Amino acid sequence: MENAINNAQSCAPERKKRILSCIQSSGMPTLGNYLGALKNWKLLSDEFDCAFAVADLHAITVRQDPQKLKKQIMEMFALLLAIGLDPEESIVFIQSHVPAHSQLAWILNCYTQFGEMSRMTQFKDKSASHADNVNVGLFTYPVLMAADILLYQADLVPVGADQKQHLEIARDIANRFNSVNGKTFTIPEPYIRKSGARIMSLQDPTKKMSKSDPNPKAFISIFDSPETIMKKVRSAVTDSEGGVYYGEGKEGVNNLMEIYSCCTGLSMDQITSDFEGKGYGDFKKAVGEAVAEELRPIRERYEDLMKNQDYLKATAAKGAEKASRIANRTLDKAMKKCGFVLL
Ligand code: AMP
Ligand code: TRP
Repeated sequence: MENAINNAQSCAPERKKRILSCIQSSGMPTLGNYLGALKNWKLLSDEFDCAFAVADLHAITVRQDPQKLKKQIMEMFALLLAIGLDPEESIVFIQSHVPAHSQLAWILNCYTQFGEMSRMTQFKDKSASHADNVNVGLFTYPVLMAADILLYQADLVPVGADQKQHLEIARDIANRFNSVNGKTFTIPEPYIRKSGARIMSLQDPTKKMSKSDPNPKAFISIFDSPETIMKKVRSAVTDSEGGVYYGEGKEGVNNLMEIYSCCTGLSMDQITSDFEGKGYGDFKKAVGEAVAEELRPIRERYEDLMKNQDYLKATAAKGAEKASRIANRTLDKAMKKCGFVLL
């Protein structure tokens, strides 16, 4: 009897939690973006019900060259497929193909206070660095991000530290809308990665690796050739002490160990014992090779995909269709609650 109950329980279909995340289309990601975010998306897609998008509407909050933007949107979409996201299993789409994002963003703008947007640190930073174009889109950017998340009734949103404040505001907006109009949106939780890889600059390991670093030696782009990768790792800043182990004051070595561990799956202790008695030259060679090997299949798949623009467009269209089905359902629900007349 007890067994029968247990069996019945284990057979009951449990709804998988839904995850949504987006990546901006501006510029090719770095090894930091890959190990810190994108590689994780692939792992999550095996476990959860996932929707992933290229956040192209967000890109025009800073001035873009239209031809360049168009190219970057398709490149980012191809990259999402190249890292192994399966468009049959997950919803992989381009934000601007689903008009519900802009539509819900307008509604949510009316549930967001001027004061709370003014407190967003990214707005303060970006309005300082783009002082000649402090547009209203830049100001309400977190509201569009809230719409991205709430449209899909996402349970979990994997975000890095820089986006935590925006996720917090999405939760506040959802709670406010729900309390005025009745339960409409799922309140999203941040998804904190188990292994929180934070990859640092190769030239200044106290700073995060970033594609906007003026020194190209400081970051590895996801499409750097194996030769470039080897060269950049060889010139990475280390220390004069010479031992491969994780420790204080060894930020450069710690960072290379972190990178090596992410690419090979080896623990820090294992790496230390593997390189005992060896110098930084040997270690850097191994790190460079591991990174090149990690990125090689992605680059190859990406190159194949980019040769097949028709396939990319058809896949984007299918993704948009699947995304729209969920998004429009939520949008209709929200519009109805507000009192709009649905036809
Ligand atoms: P960004 O390109 O800075 O807008 O970041 C996009 C995503 O990649 C965010 O989720 C970041 O947390 C992640 N990311 C960016 N740079 C790094 C890095 N150096 N190490 C780990 N994750 C990163
Ligand atoms: N703002 C995010 C970034 O710059 C990208 C983004 C847009 C996003 N919409 C989102 C991330 C929704 C998570 C969920 O990285």
